[in-house]
Amino acid sequence: MSKLRTVKVGIVGCGGIANGKHMPALKKCENVEMIAFCDIIEERAVKAAADYGVKGAKVFTDYRDLLAMKDIEVVHVLTPNYKHAEISIAALCAGKHVMCEKPMATTTAEARAMCDAAKQNGKKLTIGYQSRSEPSYQVAHNLIAVGKIGEVYYIKAPSIRRRGVPTWGVFMDEEKQGGGPMIDIGTHSIDAALYVVNNYDVASVTGVVNNKLKYYAKDNGSWGPWGEDKPFTVEDSAMGMVRFHNGAMMYVEASWLLNVQDGGHPTFCGTLGGIEMMHGGLAINGERPDETGAMKLFAEDYKPTPADRTFFKDEALSSSEYEARQWIQAVVEDLDPIVLPEQAAVVTQIIEAIYQSGRTGRTVYFD
Ligand SMILES: NC(=O)c1ccc[n+]([C@@H]2O[C@H](COP(=O)([O-])OP(=O)(O)OC[C@H]3O[C@@H](n4cnc5c(N)ncnc54)[C@H](O)[C@@H]3O)[C@@H](O)[C@H]2O)c1
Repeated sequence: MSKLRTVKVGIVGCGGIANGKHMPALKKCENVEMIAFCDIIEERAVKAAADYGVKGAKVFTDYRDLLAMKDIEVVHVLTPNYKHAEISIAALCAGKHVMCEKPMATTTAEARAMCDAAKQNGKKLTIGYQSRSEPSYQVAHNLIAVGKIGEVYYIKAPSIRRRGVPTWGVFMDEEKQGGGPMIDIGTHSIDAALYVVNNYDVASVTGVVNNKLKYYAKDNGSWGPWGEDKPFTVEDSAMGMVRFHNGAMMYVEASWLLNVQDGGHPTFCGTLGGIEMMHGGLAINGERPDETGAMKLFAEDYKPTPADRTFFKDEALSSSEYEARQWIQAVVEDLDPIVLPEQAAVVTQIIEAIYQSGRTGRTVYFD
């Protein structure tokens, strides 16, 4: 296969996820050059440029200066949530393709404005939901697509931490993140579940939002201290019940603090069988005939390998590497990215509705 043309990338936000996922994964793409880095904390951009940039990579503290660089084709937006829409829309309007971290935005209005900006400018927009790049989720998606478990009518989408508050950055700040565990990690399990069942047609959402443990779980609760200098203004857990127009129901749970030992696992129940994401892969159950023809219950595990994925089958890529490779390939070959913006906007809409329902005590209808 001929080598893909070179894509020049600019990074906005050089913190945890930039260093933990995007920059290492992009560095492994042989046709990517990271030519500019921006962070409001200049030394972070300087360090990122030194660690991952091409020789002479530019450093900025204002993203608009990075967007003004004509030779940048792709921008990765890796800032706190409240800046996702503003920076992504500015980048799309500047003619760049955009990979934005999850969650897409803090409100549905922002998410829709991002979709509109991508369409109007004829540019690609994708969101960093890396579960879709895991072989197990791709296998589950494909099995359900071919009817392996029949009609799926009950889904569980948990993102449960018994104790695990991200205390770096602004994760506990309502204004900057738009919420706590539901928008932070619930967003992953919602996206992954919608992808697996390929159903974005939501009818209604009912939610509860809890602030129960953060006042006395400080000793064991976090990945760092929180206190007066860093107010904890978001929820510590939230749950939602999502009804789809086809009658299916999805139960969503997200917590940073919850008194539970086993938070469960993503579960998909259909008329012919079920799939649970556990045992390091998929646990599949159902009924099938034995040698006499009698129907018998079965339960078996399937451990997916990279060969089960849609692209790059012969390479043992991590989900971050797969995500980056597929995204850059989508840009070069004009393919769809693995996460479409309209799909990610539904995730934001569900989260917004869970928060709204939690505040008002009423169900939110999508029509
Ligand atoms: N995909 C995942 O699993 C995953 C995991 C962690 C975080 N995230 C997402 O990534 C985003 C960033 O999280 P993080 O953990 O990297 O946080 P972080 O605080 O470590 O990094 C964010 C960086 O953005 C910079 N920044 C803030 N405003 C900026 C602006 N206007 N212009 C340029 N830089 C700016 C900050 O100075 C900081 O260095 C969040 O939206 C979060 O939800 C995704």
